[in-house]
Amino acid sequence: MVFSWLSSWLPVSLHRLWLWSTALVLALGLLQLTRLLARRQKLLRALDSFPGPPIHWFFGHAKEIEEGGGLDKMISWANTYPSAHPLWFGRFVGFLNIYDPDYAKAVYSRGDPKAWDIYSFFLPWIGKGLLVLDGPKWFQHRKLLTPAFHNEVLKSYVSLFAESTHAMLEKWKEKVCVNTCVEIFNDMGFMALDSLMKCIFGKTHKGQTQSGTDYYLASTNLALMMQERIQTFYYHNDFLYWLTPHGRNFLRACKIAHDHTDKVIRERKAALKGEELEKIQKKRHLDFLDILLGVKDENKTNLSDMDLRAEVDTFMFEGHDTTTTSISWFLYCMALYPEHQRLCRKEIQEILQGRDTFQWEDLAKMTYLTYCIKESFRLYPTVPQVYRQLSKPVTFTDGRSLPEGSLVSLHIYALHRNPTVWTDPEVFDPQRFTPENSSGRHPFAFMPFSAGPRNFIGQQFAMTEMKVVTALCLLHFEFSPSPTQPPIKQLQLVLRSKNGIHLHLKRLT
Ligand code: HEM
Ligand SMILES: *[C@@H]1O[C@H](CO)[C@@H](O)[C@H](O)[C@H]1NC(C)=O
Ligand SMILES: *[C@@H]1O[C@H](CO)[C@@H](O)[C@H](O)[C@H]1NC(C)=O
Ligand SMILES: *[C@@H]1O[C@H](CO)[C@@H](O)[C@H](O)[C@H]1NC(C)=O
Repeated sequence: MVFSWLSSWLPVSLHRLWLWSTALVLALGLLQLTRLLARRQKLLRALDSFPGPPIHWFFGHAKEIEEGGGLDKMISWANTYPSAHPLWFGRFVGFLNIYDPDYAKAVYSRGDPKAWDIYSFFLPWIGKGLLVLDGPKWFQHRKLLTPAFHNEVLKSYVSLFAESTHAMLEKWKEKVCVNTCVEIFNDMGFMALDSLMKCIFGKTHKGQTQSGTDYYLASTNLALMMQERIQTFYYHNDFLYWLTPHGRNFLRACKIAHDHTDKVIRERKAALKGEELEKIQKKRHLDFLDILLGVKDENKTNLSDMDLRAEVDTFMFEGHDTTTTSISWFLYCMALYPEHQRLCRKEIQEILQGRDTFQWEDLAKMTYLTYCIKESFRLYPTVPQVYRQLSKPVTFTDGRSLPEGSLVSLHIYALHRNPTVWTDPEVFDPQRFTPENSSGRHPFAFMPFSAGPRNFIGQQFAMTEMKVVTALCLLHFEFSPSPTQPPIKQLQLVLRSKNGIHLHLKRLT
């Protein structure tokens, strides 16, 4: 009885349901398409006064930047179209790509929000931490975390950086007995993660943990997948992306990264249990995690678990991939230019006078090393491209303008090779950064750490780490390039090398 009732009812009803849902999906699809087309028109109009490379009707410029982020292509475009040109990721997302100091100043001195079209891709991974946040909440967190990078705190990190570096150098000493050609990028990555875990997250036990190794592999993978998503416009829509294998792999890697950060938070919470923050503060300076776990707003409520995890994920990612990249390219530069390598080593030896450890005060004396670090940042900027969405209109010095809501991509890589600022931009010349030679330069011509209110919070931390690590590397090894395996530049949020960085190492001590 029930069955016969069902069978008479079901087909008709299902049929209806199917019709209705198809109509609904079509209507929603149409609505979305209309919205996208209207947006395209708006962006096209905004970019009207900026000539640029031809735009494919479907791909935009996606094809040209497919190969390693199109860094070389960008340079040739920058040389053809002065100051800026439109850059389309597919049909619906168009940026004004800028590489002129005046243009950079006009936008980056104001602190416009991050371009959500790109930065929202970060959300499943690092959540709404400092990198992605905007508005009052960003301001609150930034103010909160700034003391974690105070000089007094950094001072205590010098010996920790050195300790992690020595572990890496020991590894290299073993390796060169077998083969003098060493791929340094991966070793550097583990070293940077290890020192970050010690400094920012207060890790005490020595050595590589399985969870740390898993995290390292997952985060490298996530950065690559993020870059692929940015460059592949049909991955831009969240709904479609999560249906693809690429999207599902992304979520899987996020899970591994989160397991690691959750573990770090759990362990620290357990360690802090019962201890009052004021008491800890008397013993030592509060580190990053102390601050996060101790904050209370005016209502005495703590940071939500989600906010906390987002900040930990943000610093974990931002803190190791960037330094790894910076130090690896720096050593590559040293290998390519032995005369500068020799001058740096001489300076370090003179500062140390036979001692084998660095003091905080030594770092300020590393003048030539600092010039060389800056010059390697110029040619190999760690973060080659950052994106903003204008919160109000901007007019550039040449009279051209962009309306509110426009998307801007600052191409730091092209900015650092802009021939109107840098003579012979491809030449490695640390003398560019002597006080005399930099005094007349545009303040927005060199932006490895971005600039303005949304610049990067840990500049001092990063420079301190770079000096300690590079000085120790140069003291213990001589570096020369591998003629058979030159690096192949590739954009993976940071500037990586597709085949790693292979150098010949000669032991000096
Ligand atoms: C040499 C190494 C580094 C370089 C070149 C670098 C570069 C940058 C750049 C260019 C930005 C701006 C990104 C944007 O506009 O989207 C940024 C932001 C940021 N970086 Fe770094 N970074 C380095 C190391 C680190 C380290 C070691 C940490 C943490 C310990 C860190 C944490 C952050 C955070 C939290 C932000 C977001 C700041 C905000 O928006 O308020 N970075 N970094
Ligand atoms: C604190 O509580 C008041 C009143 O309940 C509320 O209006 C305010 O938004 C709260 N502040 C924060 C930072 O949550
Ligand atoms: C904040 O407090 C709640 C309840 O007191 C607790 O469950 C949560 O773990 C705390 N969050 C942090 C980040 O300490
Ligand atoms: C400025 O740079 C040039 C070459 O780039 C160098 O020869 C010169 O010594 C530098 N001047 C100073 C004062 O550092």
